[in-house]
Amino acid sequence: MKASSLGLFAAVAAATDLLIPFYQYPADKGAAWNEVFWSLGNNTDLTHTLVISPNNGPGGAAPDDNYAAATETLAKFGNARMIGYVHTSLDDGATRCTRPWNEITNDVNTWFSWTSKAGVKVPIQGIFIDEAPSDSANLDCVTYMRNLTTLIRTADAQRIVVFNPGTVGTGLQPYYDLSPTFIVAFETCFMTPALARAEFDQCDPKWGAWTPYDSQGAGTSVDSVLAGLGTTAGSAKAARTAILVHGFHDTNGPQQATEAVLGPMIKQVVDKGIGAAFFNTAGYHTFSTGPASIGAVAKQLSAANKGK
Ligand SMILES: *[C@@H]1O[C@H](CO)[C@@H](O)[C@H](O)[C@H]1NC(C)=O
Ligand SMILES: *[C@@H]1O[C@H](CO)[C@@H](O)[C@H](O)[C@H]1NC(C)=O
Repeated sequence: MKASSLGLFAAVAAATDLLIPFYQYPADKGAAWNEVFWSLGNNTDLTHTLVISPNNGPGGAAPDDNYAAATETLAKFGNARMIGYVHTSLDDGATRCTRPWNEITNDVNTWFSWTSKAGVKVPIQGIFIDEAPSDSANLDCVTYMRNLTTLIRTADAQRIVVFNPGTVGTGLQPYYDLSPTFIVAFETCFMTPALARAEFDQCDPKWGAWTPYDSQGAGTSVDSVLAGLGTTAGSAKAARTAILVHGFHDTNGPQQATEAVLGPMIKQVVDKGIGAAFFNTAGYHTFSTGPASIGAVAKQLSAANKGK
């Protein structure tokens, strides 16, 4: 094997992917997604896994004209992987894995056959399962998630499967045992609850308070996630764990939201071997606002991956 391919293999094995809950509507034939296209173009070594969701799922058998144009552009990037959004509850996540089997599987099957009116198939490479359970005592949930994972991977064992419980909960081990690509074991906000801008950053104190991300120092939030999972930095489980951090603006208490503060936080995520991460100034609909615009985050993540 050539030295260059060895080097490439090492970099790929150690890398933290960018996981983007990409719920922004691609207005103007996808022009609204330019910031993400630029991020892909400027960081070709960084895998961007993009969760597509027109309407809490595929929304229909065919993408509308804007989605058709935008996903066609996305598909041209070798470092973009599109995965389709589905959710498991009928009550915004209050009771998980209760959505009727025929409804959720209909969404999964629709994703894999999603074709524009012009006949262009959208290359969906996997499924993001939102409102995934974190409660291991609920055996029905384990079966539900096993059934879904099996369904998704029946046609292609390489398909990406992401579970999003959003929290470590009371025990995620039975879900890790199902071998999803990633489990989002932490979904939180950077700024203090008093500074949340509900619609803008999808952080609303009325949904419950949170400890601002890394308010005890860079890397401390990931340390507590790994401790909650009963694992260590750099473990195989860390590599199958993802974190989503939104609302990177104002302050988390001790630190202001600046690119200089973001850098060490991203470096800690990479050094601890987390498989995929997302940082954003806003929430899941706006990606161009600094300091944590998607381009700035991708640049820092790419640099941290290379420096590892
Ligand atoms: C890199 O990003 C800039 C904006 O920050 C953009 O104008 C440029 O087109 C991008 N380059 C590529 C190759 O996408
Ligand atoms: C899982 O799939 C089996 C076989 O198709 C089915 O009998 C069972 O009801 C499913 N269980 C859940 C919780 O979805």
